[in-house]
Amino acid sequence: MKSNNSIPIHRQKKRSSRNWLTLCLALLCVLAVGLGTLSVYAVLTLHEQRHVSEVQAQQITDLEKQLQDVQSDLSLAQDALTQKQTELEQKQAALEAEQAAASSSLAEKDKTIQEQEKTISELKEQIAKKGTGTTASKTTKKTTANTVNSSTKEWNKYEKQKIVALTFDDGPGPYTERLLDGLKERGVRATFFVLGSRVNDYPDLLRRMDKEGHEIGNHSQNHKQLTKLSAAGIKSEMSACATRVKKIVGHEPTVMRCPYGSYNKKVCNYAKGKGIPIVHWDVDTLDWKNKNADTILKLAFSKDGISDGSIVLMHDIHSPTVDATFRMVDKLKKQGYVFVTTSELLHARHSKVEAGKVYYEG
Ligand code: NI
Repeated sequence: MKSNNSIPIHRQKKRSSRNWLTLCLALLCVLAVGLGTLSVYAVLTLHEQRHVSEVQAQQITDLEKQLQDVQSDLSLAQDALTQKQTELEQKQAALEAEQAAASSSLAEKDKTIQEQEKTISELKEQIAKKGTGTTASKTTKKTTANTVNSSTKEWNKYEKQKIVALTFDDGPGPYTERLLDGLKERGVRATFFVLGSRVNDYPDLLRRMDKEGHEIGNHSQNHKQLTKLSAAGIKSEMSACATRVKKIVGHEPTVMRCPYGSYNKKVCNYAKGKGIPIVHWDVDTLDWKNKNADTILKLAFSKDGISDGSIVLMHDIHSPTVDATFRMVDKLKKQGYVFVTTSELLHARHSKVEAGKVYYEG
């Protein structure tokens, strides 16, 4: 049987397959659009990330460059510093060696001179004993002219005592008053080798030194190395100090000491002309270098330290030196030492004290 309303079967099949096709196409379209969007998003994201990482890489490279620059600058600066340090160390070593050589050669020369002088005076004595009248009188005259006022004071009273002369250079300074107080308390007299450039700042202290029996020595006006000056230069440097001292205390310094212990014939001639001896030292406490009371005392009481007739070098411009001095004095007193000025020490231990001669001890 056949119905009129019914659609032929092959048509029905055709419609259904068309529907499927449409559906499939629609799905494909959706899929394609989705995939497209996804890939566009992915491409954009990737591009963005690449851009960011490129920028970061650039920044890192820049920073690394900067770091390298800073590092190379630093290493250059470090190299320069090391070089400078080495140069300075070398210079210091050279200077120290020079100073040591100079002082040892000076000491040796001085010893030789002293020995020669001894021999000469012995020979003179022998000649005098033999009774060669004219020579003897000439010798006596010469001796009198070069001898520092040894007859005016009783130097012999220290003959049988252990004596020591404490000396203070480069002052007066802010600690000198405390030093003077402590010395007065202990009944001790010392010698102050003052600088002319400083005395006008402490006129009262200078007068006090003089009044309390300390000796005032000339240590030059500006602490220049005298061996580098002409005879006129030496005179001007030393006289400037002497004049200032005289203006304050009423008399010139009675002894002198060369800055750095450095002297030559011209310096000796100046002292000779002034009628004063040059007083250096045999015990160096190195107080200016260490600025430590314990070290000062250690050196003062070492094997090569203070003995009878010693002249001790210190500087009253350092506070630890003042502390060390008091401890030193107390200890030396217990050992029976008597404290004298440099002039007293020289006259007590030398039969004659010669102007212009360098003395290192009594
Ligand atoms: Ni000095």
